[in-house]
Amino acid sequence: MTQINSDTNDDAHEERLPRVIAVVNQKGGVGKTTTAVNLAAALAACGQRTLVIDLDPQGNASTGVGIPANRRKVGVYDVLIGECSLAEAAFKTEMPLFDIVPSTMDLSGAEIELVDMPRRERRLADALNQAKSESGPLGYSFILIDCPPSLGLLTLNALVAADGAFAPLQAEFLALEGLSHLKRTIDLVAERLNPELALEGIVITMMDRRIRLAEAVAADVRAHFGDIVYKAEIPRNVRVSEAPSHGKPVLLYDLNCTGSRAYLDLAREFLQREGLLPGGSVKVVAA
Ligand SMILES: Nc1ncnc2c1ncn2[C@@H]1O[C@H](COP(=O)(O)OP(=O)(O)OP(=O)(O)O)[C@@H](O)[C@H]1O
Ligand SMILES: [Mg+2]
Repeated sequence: MTQINSDTNDDAHEERLPRVIAVVNQKGGVGKTTTAVNLAAALAACGQRTLVIDLDPQGNASTGVGIPANRRKVGVYDVLIGECSLAEAAFKTEMPLFDIVPSTMDLSGAEIELVDMPRRERRLADALNQAKSESGPLGYSFILIDCPPSLGLLTLNALVAADGAFAPLQAEFLALEGLSHLKRTIDLVAERLNPELALEGIVITMMDRRIRLAEAVAADVRAHFGDIVYKAEIPRNVRVSEAPSHGKPVLLYDLNCTGSRAYLDLAREFLQREGLLPGGSVKVVAA
């Protein structure tokens, strides 16, 4: 196993634990699940205990970390309807510091079932707050919520529960329009339901610098959204797309591929922005 050491400012960080980040973009197939899983794995490799909540009925994050549908007896649906706590629904992955609350079949009906429930857009936030009040910060530094490709009630639950939103973006035609729409939705949720919320990060995924349109779109996104766009870009890399079928984050599948290195860079930058890493002092060590 490979582990990564980092210098962290633990005291300041501990007070606001865990940081809850919604990985969100209403556009399908832009790399939300890939980013939630692989950023979580990279954060775990940096020594940060991280939980992914698979809030997408497709269940790709759960499958992608080796929890097949037949092993998922409980999941985030049970948490949303108040049948079980977040801790009870958390599964361990192959990485010691990386857990996941999976999606189950029932989640497909949740968008409709939630409509008639009290506090329908706050159910996940309530579950998180209850977990925190019962057992402190839950032992996690970060909770990443993998959202479905829509702005329905499940995504709304993620945005209400989150401290910040993080948007993966594929540099292609109309990407900027989609992102502006997402930004407006986030601002609206911040105004009405969760004043803590802001679009804190954008990461360009599946980048292919040989495609001139991708270069142009990436430049536009950087010009329009400025510093919230991460310097780290995730390249299109076949190892990244193969890893989920082996039930592994790409770091465990092929540590040295360009995709793994990009997700480690993304995690370093993320931790720097969180004030947890002074100037890139993470080093990979064999354990
Ligand atoms: N960096 C990458 N290189 C190559 N393939 C990638 C990369 N990132 C994602 N993919 C592939 O692109 C597809 C879409 O990615 P992913 O499932 O992460 O997107 P998503 O936004 O979660 O999709 P959905 O909206 O359906 O939930 C997947 O097949 C994934 O393996
Ligand atoms: Mg997905």
